Formats: sequence, C-alpha cells, structure tokens
Amino acid sequence: MTTKQKHDSPILVTGAAGAVGGIGRSLTQLLLTKGHKVRALVRREDKRAEALRQLGAEVVNGDLTDLASMHRAIEGCRRIYFGMSVSAAYLEATINTAAVARHHGVEAFVNMSQMTVSQMSISETTDSPQHKLHWLAEQALSWSGLPVVTVRPTVFLEGFFLTLAAAGVRASDELALPMGGGKTSPISAVDVARAVAAILDDPTPHIGQVYDLTGPESADLEHYARAYSEALGRPIRYRDVPLPAWSEGLRKARFPEHVVSHLSAITELNRQGRYDRMTNTLRKLTGEAPMNMGDFVKLHAAEFK
Ligand SMILES: NC(=O)c1ccc[n+]([C@@H]2O[C@H](COP(=O)([O-])OP(=O)(O)OC[C@H]3O[C@@H](n4cnc5c(N)ncnc54)[C@H](OP(=O)(O)O)[C@@H]3O)[C@@H](O)[C@H]2O)c1
Repeated sequence: MTTKQKHDSPILVTGAAGAVGGIGRSLTQLLLTKGHKVRALVRREDKRAEALRQLGAEVVNGDLTDLASMHRAIEGCRRIYFGMSVSAAYLEATINTAAVARHHGVEAFVNMSQMTVSQMSISETTDSPQHKLHWLAEQALSWSGLPVVTVRPTVFLEGFFLTLAAAGVRASDELALPMGGGKTSPISAVDVARAVAAILDDPTPHIGQVYDLTGPESADLEHYARAYSEALGRPIRYRDVPLPAWSEGLRKARFPEHVVSHLSAITELNRQGRYDRMTNTLRKLTGEAPMNMGDFVKLHAAEFK
C-alpha cells in the first residue's frame, strides 16, 4: 500500500521563506503543483511570506525552537519537511520539532541533513560545528521512533558557486575559493527540493531510508571555471585563495561564527578529497538528471555580470 492519495491534511514545510538554498520555498511550490495543501512555516511576516501565500500556501509564523510555535505549525499535519538555515540552534530546533511531531503523531518526517554525515560515526567527526549538529540530530531522530526519511545532499551550487563566488566572478573574472585541487559534485538546492517533493508525495516506501544526493559530475575547480567560461562567454579562472583570509572576509561580511567555521571546515575537507563522491540517487527519486554547472551558471548569468 502507498500513501500517494492526496488528502486533506496540509504538509508542513519548515524554513519556507528561504535564504541560501531555499529548499522550503521550492518545495512549497512543487507540492502545491502536485495538488497537496501546504502549511509553510516562516519566521516573520515579509514579502517572502506574502509570495508563499500568493502561491496558495497557508502561512504560519513561528520559531522552530519554540514549543508553542511548533504545536501551531504541526497540529493537523501528517507529513513534515524539516530544514532550516545553517545555525547554532539546529539541534534544539530538530528535537523541539521532533518532540511535537511525536506528540501529534505524523506519518512522515523528512529530515534535511548533509552528505558528510555518512562519513561520521561515534568515533569519527569533522571540524564543522554544523556537521556535528546534523550527526547528533540524526542520532536523536533514530531514537525517536518517528517515521523518518533522511536526505543528505552534498554542497549546494547556490552556496559556494553563487553566493560565495559571484562577487569574484563579477569583479575580476575569478572563481576565488579556498577549495584546493579537490574534486566536488555540487547539487542544485532546487534538485534537492524535487527529491524531497517526490518523497513527501508518497512517503511510505521511503520511511527509514537515507538518501545521499550529488550533482551530475565530480570535478575540480579548474574544470568548473571552464564551465563558467563557456556559460558566460568570457574567460573565468580558478584562484585557490588562502583559507585564513577568506574566512576573515566572511566575518567582515557579518556571517555568524558558526557558519564561518562550517564553511571553512568544508573547504578543508574538499582539499582532502572528501567531497569527491557521486550517487545517482536524485535520478532514482525524481526520474530526472541533476542540473550541471554550465546550466546553473547560465540560469544565474545576471548575477555574474
Ligand atoms: N548550503 C549547502 O551547501 C548545503 C548542503 C547540504 C545540506 N545543506 C543543509 O540544507 C539545510 C539548509 O537548507 P536551505 O539552504 O534551503 O535553508 P535556507 O534557505 O538557508 O534557510 C531556510 C530558512 O530557515 C529559516 N530559519 C532559520 N532559523 C529558524 C528558526 N529558528 N525558526 C524558523 N525558521 C528558521 C530562515 O528564516 P529567515 O530567512 O527568516 O532567517 C530561512 O528562510 C541545512 O540543513 C543545511 O545543513 C546545505
């Protein structure tokens, strides 16, 4: 038996306003298109909340670490997507949401995690505070008895290859990142949202599964610089910048220390070849190939000019 039939309960989508990857925002759109009702949780009333309402979502305001907010958000929902921006409060938010989900009883809890967690264990960790929180959150969810589906994507194209790269590409035709010579297989957060939508559309066969998601190829930054050059029609070089100066730049740009430590740790792992991984799980879940670097750069060309 599957759970494919649409029903009256809305699906709760957390982190729906969207900051870096905006999975919640894309997911809201995809689920509405599939004919589901969506309850979109946002932190505050703003243009992004209004845009979700215009799409047809029921919008609720609340904080994932707040008990009353999560009762309001979860009551009446049978399926939940849990994801929020990288932050020091991640574990508290996960457990707060899981505790309330257990109280109300749900049939699917899709948890956003990270692919590096698949290389962690009770004796193996990384220097990223966010990786540690994801590992602990996954542990707690596995003890919870909730019907969990775990999604572990590798790095998003929207982070290192857009938010953190656009200024260098615009100003000096450089992909200036401290990634060394390691290979990486970035994935678009829109593709990740497609995978989550497929799971939430019919969760029963996925309960208890862990899905590692990557983009369509694993390559070094020289290769990706060539993809930028072709997509933008001008030469873009890769420059391997020193990590301390790069991290300091993030601090000056007012990134929280938790995020600076996380991003810095990722670049170190990338240098060590730890992001050189490939799966075809996205195609298995969605029936479609993930977006490649060239198409991603073309899609965001205006931000690189
Ligand atoms: N970026 C990557 O390369 C990458 C790779 C693999 C996995 N991931 C995982 O993907 C997830 C992030 O997904 P994303 O990029 O789609 O998120 P996002 O767009 O950066 O953030 C989603 C939303 O979370 C909201 N939020 C933050 N703290 C909250 C709180 N306490 N209560 C309620 N809402 C809160 C933010 O609201 P405001 O906008 O109002 O602040 C934001 O709009 C994380 O689990 C991350 O570890 C990321």
